[in-house]
Formats: sequence, structure tokens, C-alpha cells
Amino acid sequence: MLGIIGAMDVEVEKLCAMMEQVETQTAAGMTFHQGTLQGKEVVIVRSGIGKVNAGICSQILVDRYHVEGIINTGIAGSLRNEVNIGDIVLSTTAVQHDMDATGFGYALGEIPQLGAKEFKADETLLKLAEKCCQKANPDIQTFCGRVASGDQFVSSRDKKDWIRANFDAYCTEMEGAAIAQAAYLNRVPYLIIRAISDKADDSAHMDYSEFEAKAVEHSVRLLLAMLKEL
Ligand code: ADE
Repeated sequence: MLGIIGAMDVEVEKLCAMMEQVETQTAAGMTFHQGTLQGKEVVIVRSGIGKVNAGICSQILVDRYHVEGIINTGIAGSLRNEVNIGDIVLSTTAVQHDMDATGFGYALGEIPQLGAKEFKADETLLKLAEKCCQKANPDIQTFCGRVASGDQFVSSRDKKDWIRANFDAYCTEMEGAAIAQAAYLNRVPYLIIRAISDKADDSAHMDYSEFEAKAVEHSVRLLLAMLKEL
């Protein structure tokens, strides 16, 4: 069984509408939809926004559903000029840009006592996603790179530049690295798939509402293509 986490209703609604043999269960205020999608056993859930929700949600997927992998779909703000609105970023690794225990002598972004600053995504899922993207979304670019997550909607040039300078990431969002950390702790493979809805700068709020639907469409299309091949 594969776990699929989206942060928001729009992302999850589309996928759930296509599921068959659905059974739902609620835990921690989250509704888990278990069933088949493209003939594959999946459990799809809206985690809610932010790293705490995402971490709790991932742990429930592991404990209750014994998932063999977790895919996080959704949207993100671009951190690079060449990554345009509508494009897709696949995680190679994930970091938490708001983890700062430098006062304790740790590197910026390093999770204290874990010995890890970033979490590597699963190679097999990454390769499959890369392959499927060209077929599923031929009109956009796909990038493989680091995803930087934090409990913040990034909407200023200064913050964007700071994240880019310190973490060399391709996009920023609010859940991926928490899912990655939970996956790491539970030894479960994971992948983050994010479609770009904005440029994480001063125009982010406006662009986000305009391009959210299109971005969601791209990530959903990719996920469906991947499930077909799994
Ligand atoms: N999700 C989509 N756009 C984002 C942004 N600019 N910052 C954080 N999360 C996002």
C-alpha cells in the first residue's frame, strides 16, 4: 500500500474522486481514504498545512496502514529563475529551512541529535516520476532538486534569497521535509512532487491564487501516470 499525502482539499479531492472501493477512517482530525487508484492499493489523506500536521499524518500512515512508501503531492513556490509557474520539482532531498539550532552548535537546518540535515528521497520513485513526467505533462519542465520546507508561506524576495543562499533548494513549501523526516525515522521510502504555483516573492499571494488550480492539475496528472506504472 502506498500513502499519498496532500496538504490541501483541492489536491486530495481530485484524487479521491477517481478512487474505487473506498473506505474511510479518521484519526487526529484527518480523513484517510483507503482504496484503489489506477488499480493500485493506496491510502490518500489531506494532512492539513504545516510540518506538524505532515509529521503526524505520516506516522499514522506507517502505524495504521503499514505503507511501503509515501508520496507527497502539492504545490510550492519556486526559488530559482529557471523554475517557472506550472513546472514540477521532484525532490532529490528535503531540508527544513526553519530548523535553527545553531545556538547549540548545530549546522543551520540540522535536526539536533539526529545527525541529519537533509533526507534523501527514494531513487526508484524519483526515476519513475521523472520518466512519467515527460509523458504526463509534455508542455512543462521537470526539475530534480532539493525541496526546502518550513512553517511559512514565503512571499518576500529577502526570505526567498535567504533560503536559496543557505539551502540551495529548487522550491519551498510547508510539509515535504517533515514527511521526509518521518519516512527516514521509520525507514520508509518517500518522494515529494511539487508543481510551482508562485515565485515565493512579493507577487506570491496573487500568483498563488491564480495558478494554484493549474499546478494541482500537473501534480495529479503525474501521480496518476506513476501509479499506472508501479
Ligand atoms: N506553497 C505554495 N507556494 C508557497 C510559498 N510561496 N511558500 C510556502 N509554501 C508554498
